[in-house]
Amino acid sequence: MKRTSLTIAALAFGVGSALAASAAAEGISFRKVADMLYQVMSADREVYTRMVVQRLTVDNKVVTASEHFEDDTALPLPAQMFRFGAERVMDETEDFSYALLSLNPINKKNGPGTDLERKGLQFVVDNPGENFYGEEELGGERYFAAVYPDYAVVEACASCHNGHKDSPRRDIEVGDVMGGVVIRIPIK
Ligand code: HEC
Repeated sequence: MKRTSLTIAALAFGVGSALAASAAAEGISFRKVADMLYQVMSADREVYTRMVVQRLTVDNKVVTASEHFEDDTALPLPAQMFRFGAERVMDETEDFSYALLSLNPINKKNGPGTDLERKGLQFVVDNPGENFYGEEELGGERYFAAVYPDYAVVEACASCHNGHKDSPRRDIEVGDVMGGVVIRIPIK
């Protein structure tokens, strides 16, 4: 009898501490996982913009980049490349999702859709070099969400947005925060 209750106590303690340990590990890992995903997204985004778009459109002027690239001999926009990737990921997994948003979007669909997104996008504008992390509930599910600043890394970013007919901003300079990458991970 004594043995059984000891075993139960040991089991309960074991499960409890394992749960706490895994919760702690997840608390760290959500942020860490989001940070790592962001590193990859951001590197790919910058490389495409710098080595393909900036070089061929602004520097060498051999081709343009346009949202209507399919009707034209044009390059897809960096934001479109980013979204096509995000859509592929959404087809493959529900483990995470991501999007490129802005408080001053050219495409209204890229404006903030939740309070956390609005808060996070404002935070990365107000706090240069910092990321925003939080949690939100959407449709009855809890999510960890991170917002990372999206910078005008090359002249092509600023010049195209400043000259675009639907852009609410005309004063973007290289180095400015133009929006943010939102990464969302369901907390299961
Ligand atoms: C040749 C034009 C062009 C270039 C170059 C370009 N963009 Fe965009 N960008 C657009 C257009 C057009 C959209 C809207 C696309 C859509 O979703 O329909 C957009 C979307 C965005 C968005 C989402 C919010 C919005 O405005 O709709 C962000 C943030 C953004 N771009 C930042 C950047 C950054 C940073 C760079 C450089 C790394 C860049 N853009 C390069 C034209 C451009």
